[in-house]
Order: sequence, then structure tokens, then C-alpha cells
Amino acid sequence: MASGHGSNFEALVASCRHGALNASVELLVVNKAGCGAIERAERLGVPWRLLDHRRFSSREALDGALIEAFGQARVELVVMAGWMRIVTPVLIEAFPQRLVNIHPSLLPSFRGVDAIGQALAAGVTLAGCSAHLVTAEVDGGPILVQAAVPVCPGDDHARLAARIQQQEHRILPLAVALAAERLGFRDRRAATAGRCRRAAPPAG
Ligand code: GRF
Repeated sequence: MASGHGSNFEALVASCRHGALNASVELLVVNKAGCGAIERAERLGVPWRLLDHRRFSSREALDGALIEAFGQARVELVVMAGWMRIVTPVLIEAFPQRLVNIHPSLLPSFRGVDAIGQALAAGVTLAGCSAHLVTAEVDGGPILVQAAVPVCPGDDHARLAARIQQQEHRILPLAVALAAERLGFRDRRAATAGRCRRAAPPAG
């Protein structure tokens, strides 16, 4: 799920394709026509769908449409990779422990909108990002992975955001792997490697 540039979406796809993450990205859903994530999906050959939030009468109705799209794509885990809408229990309860969000702060500090602006205004010297499971409390679910990022002298919003994003791209695939492991998803590569080892003829 993405609303913007889609750099986190692309990091997930790259991680799957390079083999670091034993998964595949089956579907991108965006809520904004023309957002950068769509161009990335086209380039990467990932199916995408637009669910424009303005066409739904309520947040719950949008979440219902998301559930339907994910069901059709048979997805097992959902990532909010820069999804700029608040989700409701409708979506959260459809994917218990299977809904991951990335947020540009060291939670529980600076929840909500413009976390980077909040960090700069507070004058912290350490910012960062958090990948966490989604609960009904906005940016409040169990933390999976975090990365700390120093705030450097002279940093403005854009410079700090760029440094934080580098870390987001690193921790989001780790968080997905961790969430899958917690759910007991089988690592197909490990299972295959085990079978190969057992099938190998004895030495000599
Ligand atoms: C990220 O910084 C993420 O933390 C926030 O939205 C931004 C999305 O960036 N929730 P991108 O669209 O993945 O480039």
C-alpha cells in the first residue's frame, strides 16, 4: 500500500528479487492517481490497482475494498509502505499480526503526521524510523525493527528525510521477514535446501 513516491515499495520488491527476503510482492495498491509508486510498479512489472479514497463513502468502505483486492491477489501479509490514510479495524482485523507499517521516527516519539518536522522542531539529535505491526492506535503497534539516524548540524527537512529513508529501505524488509517468522510462515528456501542436503549421495 503506497500513496507517494513508492521508494519503500521498490525496496521491498528489490529485496525479494535479490533473495534477501523470501517473498514476492503480488500487488501494489495506491490511493492517489499519478503517484510515483505507480511508475515504479510499471517499471518493475508488479501489478497495481488504484483505490482512490475520495470515491469511498467512509474509511471502512475503502478498507473493505483493500481486503477484496488483497484476497483476489491471495496475499498473506500487507505492508503500509507510505500509506497516508488512517486504516480502521476493518483492515486491521482482516490481517491480524499481518499488517506492517513504516514510520519516519523512533516510535513512540513523534507519532502521526510530519514526524520529521516534529523531530526537527523538538531539536532532537537522534531521529530514525520504525517498522511496526499495525493496531487501532495510530503508529502505536508493536515495534518490529528500528534504526537510529543522527540529526546533523544544518539539516533541513529534506536532508534528514533522505537519510531516514535510506534506513527505512533497509529495515522494512527485515520487519516483513520478522513478522512472517512470528507467524510461523515456512521459509521455502530453507526447506528446499534441507531436502537437497538429505537427497545428496553420501560422500565416498
Ligand atoms: C516514508 O518516509 C514513510 O516513513 C512514510 O511515508 C514515506 C513514504 O516514502 N510513512 P516512499 O513513498 O516509500 O518513498
